[in-house]
Amino acid sequence: MTMDTKEKVKAEIEDLRKQIEEHNYRYYVLNTPTITDEQYDKLMQRLIELENKYPEFKSPTSPSQRVGGAVQEGFKEVKHIVPMLSLDNVFDETSLIDFDRRVKQALGTLDVEYVLEPKIDGLAVSLVYENGMFVRGATRGDGSVGEDVTQNLKTIRSIPLALDYKNMLEVRGEVYMTKDTFVKLNKERKEEGEPVFANPRNAAAGGLRQLDPKITAKRSLNIFVYGVGHIENSDISTHFDMLMWLKELGFPVNTDITKLKGIKGVLERIADWQHKRFDLPYMIDGLVVKVNSLEYQRILGNTAKSPRWAIAYKFPAEKKQTVVQDIEITVGRTGVLTPTAILKPVEIAGSIVKRAVLHNEDIIKQKDIKIGDTVWVHKAGDVIPEIIEVVKDKRNGTERDFVLPKKCPVCGEAVIRLKGEVATRCVNISCSARTKESILHFISRPAMNIKGLGERTVDNLLKKGLIKDAADLYALKFEQLVNLERMGEKSANNLLKAIEDSKTRPLHNLIFALGIRHIGQTAAKKLAEHFKSIDKLAKATQEELTSIPEIGDKMAESIVSWFDDKSNRNFLERLRRAGVAMESKEEAKSSLLKGKSFVLTGKLESFSRTQAQELIESLGGKVSSQVSKRTDYVVAGKDPGSKLERAKKLGVKIIDEDEFKNMILMR
Ligand code: IVH
Repeated sequence: MTMDTKEKVKAEIEDLRKQIEEHNYRYYVLNTPTITDEQYDKLMQRLIELENKYPEFKSPTSPSQRVGGAVQEGFKEVKHIVPMLSLDNVFDETSLIDFDRRVKQALGTLDVEYVLEPKIDGLAVSLVYENGMFVRGATRGDGSVGEDVTQNLKTIRSIPLALDYKNMLEVRGEVYMTKDTFVKLNKERKEEGEPVFANPRNAAAGGLRQLDPKITAKRSLNIFVYGVGHIENSDISTHFDMLMWLKELGFPVNTDITKLKGIKGVLERIADWQHKRFDLPYMIDGLVVKVNSLEYQRILGNTAKSPRWAIAYKFPAEKKQTVVQDIEITVGRTGVLTPTAILKPVEIAGSIVKRAVLHNEDIIKQKDIKIGDTVWVHKAGDVIPEIIEVVKDKRNGTERDFVLPKKCPVCGEAVIRLKGEVATRCVNISCSARTKESILHFISRPAMNIKGLGERTVDNLLKKGLIKDAADLYALKFEQLVNLERMGEKSANNLLKAIEDSKTRPLHNLIFALGIRHIGQTAAKKLAEHFKSIDKLAKATQEELTSIPEIGDKMAESIVSWFDDKSNRNFLERLRRAGVAMESKEEAKSSLLKGKSFVLTGKLESFSRTQAQELIESLGGKVSSQVSKRTDYVVAGKDPGSKLERAKKLGVKIIDEDEFKNMILMR
């Protein structure tokens, strides 16, 4: 390779890195992306491709590191340059006023400026930069020694890997998970039979301590930096200016940080936060009050455990008492009976709570919940209502035990609970609740994403006998839809179009839509990536399945038994006949001309002979030089030769260049 090409490659790599980091910053720090996910993925793929081809240009600060590197054996210990202290907590205004008095007394001044920041509910990390490069990231650990989680932290796209600041710098911040990500993650874990996380903090901590950074990358963690542990040669004199400087360097700094004169200003602001906290997309468990002047901070110093210049004002735990008015049972798509507590409505964490899912009968027993009980309720991750415990003192003898019914409350058939399982299930596979939930799952967004088809329409279609399962959706006719309640011509047409559109969903959506037990979205993606077609997945053995990382025994068993079931195979065949795509797009493309043989004759305008041959072969077809009875197509260009005559004689199909292009090109 000439120097010239190498220089060009290097320049392209550098340009890609710059572009990607710019987009990371726009997306993860500013929340204003300017390109689509696909465009972003393309840039990243190109960068990874070039770095693999020219490993001499690999770099530890390349954004390609953010997809997660090799699995680690364990985490090394790291001694923090400066100990990572914790904060003293206070729970009321009087204690804040005391804090202010101590500060003023120690400083011998009445004029103290404070900075008020949200206290992010996550876990503290330290980020060390040397020569403008992110070299080491660690958890807090016991405050003096933490764990080296550099590779995992690199997957957090808002953490800059390179800085426009060359001196040594240690930045501190809080890694967190948004409420949305937390809810999605738990939903998926439940589906895959994994234990759920109690709150976003535990989920973030679990995500950061994965030995496989690729798993960390998938947890979509984020960070806010809130200070500096160590810095050389800085002339910044206040905490607030330090934060603004960090922001300029590219770090994500919380936007709700304010500078306030005296404790009075702080107390006024705190009142606003009582409601505001619930509108944030992440959880905060309080506010931090910090002395703004760095000189004052130095004078005040630390106790063994915490700084004297800062204090955490913790919000009261958002839990309320209410009454369990009833316990209702719902039957899910896999037949599981889920008890839900119907609560006397109560306001918690900014909204009215009326129900709390109780999951299974064991939980009701463990928590000893009876109908009529007064209970403490909170919201896990500020979002999911949960009964914490029963207030036994408030019992008066009128409370009733809850017993799970012996029969399915929807279809009346028997229910069973298998040994070793916590769930009780309806045994009737055609129970109408199961049918309906399966259809709702099939049409949901991460599955076949049939837009505009809601629960009410599904109910109507089932009631009218127009569908019995999801495959029947593909046979629906305009006349059948237009007469349904709340359906006009326009919505009937829209619905038919949405159903048609769903036929070309990616393979992982289809796998997820089938509703195989324990197969959530992530597992479905893994399976689609590995097998690339439903037929290959259907033939997979237990061993082959468990050899795929992230597919465990339970999932593998469930897949094998799903495809063993005749009615499931039948369902799949009906989807296939309806025209639902059963292969991944690349597989479908590479097998478009599978088994077809071509002969080229004459001159083509858009391709050279070799190009045309390569295209046909890349789509799974063959090109021969002689026309025979086994030839499927003769492509005739300009001034074709004797091959055309022979094709006519043998009755072989002849196509011109346009027809050929239509056959192989998307556009
Ligand atoms: S300042 C000397 N600011 O709360 C400690 N901490 O108990 C300086 N935290 O370990 C910490 N948000 O994990 C600070 N805006 C914020 C914070 C914050 C969350 C966490 C941090 C720290 C714990 C203190």
